[in-house]
Parts: sequence; structure tokens; C-alpha cells
Amino acid sequence: MIRKSLADGVQTLRLDRPEKKNALTGEMYSDLAESLETGNDDPQVRCHLICGHPEVFTAGNDIGDFLSYAGRSGLSETPVARFLRALVRNRAPIVACVDGIAIGVGTTLLLHCDMVFASPRSVFRAPFVDLGLVPEAGSSLLGPALMGHARAFELLCLGKSFSAEKAALAGLVNDVVEGDVEAAALACAREIADKPPEAMALSRKLLRGDMDVLSERVEEEIRIFASHLSAPETIAAFEAFMSKKTGS
Ligand code: COA
Repeated sequence: MIRKSLADGVQTLRLDRPEKKNALTGEMYSDLAESLETGNDDPQVRCHLICGHPEVFTAGNDIGDFLSYAGRSGLSETPVARFLRALVRNRAPIVACVDGIAIGVGTTLLLHCDMVFASPRSVFRAPFVDLGLVPEAGSSLLGPALMGHARAFELLCLGKSFSAEKAALAGLVNDVVEGDVEAAALACAREIADKPPEAMALSRKLLRGDMDVLSERVEEEIRIFASHLSAPETIAAFEAFMSKKTGS
């Protein structure tokens, strides 16, 4: 479900569950986390490229999994928490290629990427509050820092959809690419991989700022998020989505 390959210093991580709009399961989060973690110690991995399929980057966390988390004492030991920590601790630059829907963590994980390419048909949405939840993946810190409070509020609290153009204006996307967006993302990833790796990793670290502050925010978000997963309004929203899909 995560298709992985390594060539020319670029580790490609393809989200590959198209029949479920690439909704991320625990297994997928574990694979992604493992790939980032092992990449930190592998000199052959000079850049990561995260991509999906035409028309779908990812529909976010699998909602069935969310339902199964409800009632647990916390999310701290889950694959999703491991993945978020791996994003924070990641060393090599990450390039993302979005061609279509990027929902929930599909949008917020982009805040940890260094170059984001999107096709014009891409749509970015973070409906956390509509689901009775709060923004995650450090987005409550990184979002306002990147795009200012007003736009971050619109995206992360109001749950408004951002077009590719609007996401680029907000600084979430580097380039909106007409034509082969994945080729553009891969070319950029290869360019990064060709640079002196140590200088690149150190420069990235300097630009990304204080990892401990981000890490603390991610943990705080995980705690609040977990405490809301069992709220009746949240479970009702999840069940409404699931029952729509099963036709019950
Ligand atoms: N979790 C679990 N399954 C999901 C999913 C998710 N986040 N997103 C989509 N799917 C599944 C659907 O249940 C459906 O499965 P089925 O064919 O077995 O019924 C399949 O993927 C196709 O999705 P569908 O809703 O029919 O496609 P669509 O083109 O009409 O709509 C979306 C696509 C992404 C807009 C819509 O599926 C959606 O809103 N998904 C939920 C997004 C979300 O709220 N994510 C959580 C963010 S915190």
C-alpha cells in the first residue's frame, strides 16, 4: 500500500490504495514512518518523494481506523503518531507531488515537505473541526507561521477548500504544474539529491527551526485530538460517512 523505490538518491514513497482514495491505514503510516526513519541513516537516501495517483493524493486518515481508535486511552502509541514523529525528525528533504485531492493529513503533511508540486486540479482541505477534531501534524504551529493566522484559520479551522492556485498563494505549494506534475516533482527531487548531502541536510535543519518546539506541539495536538475522538459529535460524523458508503 506504500510502494517504495530508490533510484538516483531519491526514495519514492507512493501512496497506493486508489480504491479507497489512498486513505491512510495504520499499516501505511507504519510503512511511511519506517521509510523516513531508516532514510535518516541511509546515505543512499538523499531526498524523499511522496506522491499518490492521478486525481488523488490522499483522502486523509482512514475513517474506519479513526472509529476503531475511539474509546482508547490515547493515540500516543499508534502508527499515525509514529509517522508524525518521523516527519518531525526527518533529515533528508521531502518533495511532494499532489495531483488531485489532498485531505486532512494529506494537506498537513505538506507543511513538513520542502518542495510541493501540484496539478491545477488539486484541492487541499482540512476538515478537522467539522469532524469535531483539531488540526494535527504540527499544523497549528506550522500553518500560521507559513501563511499567516487568517489564511491558516480559513484552512485549518473553517475547513475551506484551497485550490492549487490558492495553496500556492498561501505558500503551501511551490509550483502549480500544467502537464506532467510528477515529472516536475521527480526532476526537483533528483536536483536535490545531486547536491552535497551533508550541506543540504544541515541547511534544511537550519531553515526548519526548532525541532523540539514543533515536537512538543505535535504531542499536544495528539493529546487533544485523542480526547476528542470519542466525542459523540465526532463519532456521529464518522458513522455518517461510513454508513453513506455502505448504503445503510
Ligand atoms: N477513510 C476511509 N475510506 C475512505 C476515505 C477515508 N478517509 N475516503 C474515501 N474513502 C473510501 C470510500 O468509503 C469509498 O469506499 P467504497 O467504494 O468502499 O464505498 C471509496 O473510498 C471512494 O470514495 P468516495 O467517497 O466514493 O469517492 P468520491 O470521489 O465521491 O469522494 C472524497 C472522495 C475524498 C471527497 C470523499 O471520499 C471524502 O470526503 N472522504 C473523507 C475525507 C475525510 O474526511 N478524511 C478525514 C480527514 S481528517
